Amino acid sequence: MVIEKICCVGAGYVGGPTCTVIANKCPDIRVCVVDSNTDRIAKWNSDELPIYEPKLDDIVRECRGRNLFFSNNLKEEIEKADIIFISVNTPTKTFGFGKGKAADLQNLENVARLIANYSTKSKIVVEKSTVPVRAAESLNRILKANTKPGIRFDVLSNPEFLAEGTAIADLLNPDRILIGGEETPEGRRAIQLLCSVYSKWIPEEKIITTNTWSSELSKLAANAFLAQRISSINAISAICEVTGADVSEVAHAVGSDTRIGSKNLMAGVGFGGSCFQKDILNLVYLSECLNLPEVAAYWSQIIEMNDFQKRRFALRIIECLFNTVTNKKIAILGFAFKSNTGDTRESPAILVCKYLLEEGARLCIYDPKVPKQQIYSDLKVADNAENEKFKNLIEVVDNPYKATDKAHAIVICTSWDEFLKLDYNKMYDQMLKPAFVFDGRKMVNIEELQSIGFHVETIGRKTSKQPFKTRITRYISSD
Ligand code: NAD
Ligand code: UGA
Repeated sequence: MVIEKICCVGAGYVGGPTCTVIANKCPDIRVCVVDSNTDRIAKWNSDELPIYEPKLDDIVRECRGRNLFFSNNLKEEIEKADIIFISVNTPTKTFGFGKGKAADLQNLENVARLIANYSTKSKIVVEKSTVPVRAAESLNRILKANTKPGIRFDVLSNPEFLAEGTAIADLLNPDRILIGGEETPEGRRAIQLLCSVYSKWIPEEKIITTNTWSSELSKLAANAFLAQRISSINAISAICEVTGADVSEVAHAVGSDTRIGSKNLMAGVGFGGSCFQKDILNLVYLSECLNLPEVAAYWSQIIEMNDFQKRRFALRIIECLFNTVTNKKIAILGFAFKSNTGDTRESPAILVCKYLLEEGARLCIYDPKVPKQQIYSDLKVADNAENEKFKNLIEVVDNPYKATDKAHAIVICTSWDEFLKLDYNKMYDQMLKPAFVFDGRKMVNIEELQSIGFHVETIGRKTSKQPFKTRITRYISSD
């Protein structure tokens, strides 16, 4: 069997960029990304793509209409395909058993049923969405129970490890490709066929093959390990802020040990994004279900530390602003969960803003890529009468200098490069005095800003003159 047609169900942050790169690297394969969301597909077919990723536009433009297509016609595309990638969202359940922890797998199941219904020939079905261990087993059962005679489905696990903001670079040059499948002749053949697609641009030694359950668990474990490093350095940052140690120096010293490594040790306002928290909760739920409460508690702590970090940052802003932010204008620079993306899912900025709004602050928010409506929706001011009071406290602007005009403080929540090039002298002149900068991303030059006249507070470094004792008391009573 030669792979001629690939269909991907789910045209989101994973399905879109992944299939764009496959189409780019495999010109002999027809790749079609399908989605039930017509608006999303229309955007993929337009000049304004539904997601922002550096370099994505160029490759889409090169391949679209040649061997890359975006469609709402699930039936036709599923029917034609040799391989189907499932890249639908698998959010945390918000109802029923496992609410708040388990993954909601309804999208995955719906797609499995569509595949079984629409298929008129055998196919390889690839689980690319992040799922709990043994989800492939459920997928297999649903497919088998609904299969027409003479048709066979081989289910593989092929989790995605791209990070938003660097998705194209990650897809072109991944650390590894992981493919899990059944240890049967048919399973091994399916693995080989998927390997033959990736091997068009990825060296053989980077393609890891495992059994299905190892592959599914490796994805959850990888995200938990990555997030664990961030929570660990953030925990150290809290100690730095009261002792005079500098978290950047500590991270450098610790990360220089080759056994530890220097990546993902940047302290900040806390991690965000659609997956770290969701996948750790998934792991916690799995551990609880397996009657491993100690394992569940171990991984839970990473999220608790992350919540503490966000709360701590908001509290530090309020305390430094003389314990009241009521009616004070505060400029929020950056709302996306990280730079180079317009994605705000679980962005730390949301929680920081909510804490400040609860205290009556007037927020003026600027982000280079996040649309205004998204910010209003994340701060839930449109759909909830109780939160209507916040509406008058929020302004979203298209220019950072509008945000800082007559503001008491600047709060940096996302490390957009352009924040390094701002005219801080101009901002200082516009602001009320004393003028504060709270750097949640450790990006500004503290000494330079202090020489302008700013009072600067940054994560993991003691910059204010408050006495040691007061600050410790404050952290303990932060709940
Ligand atoms: P997303 O929300 O951006 O996209 C998912 C898409 O699936 C949506 O457009 C939705 O309309 C579509 N969809 C859902 N159910 C459907 C159905 N029944 N039929 C057709 N279309 C359907 O999600 P995402 O960020 O791309 O994540 C997808 C999966 O990949 C998740 O499991 C996530 O954990 C995982 N993942 C995400 C990232 C990331 O950086 N975002 C990285 C690695 C893995
Ligand atoms: C993360 C993983 O890095 C990907 O490998 C994985 O595929 C993806 O989750 C997923 O499964 O969705 P992503 O969330 O897109 O990718 O971005 P990251 O670069 O990991 O950043 C996540 C959050 O951690 C951001 O808020 C970022 O600002 C923060 N972060 C990251 C830190 O605070 N410090 C760091 O050192 C690194």
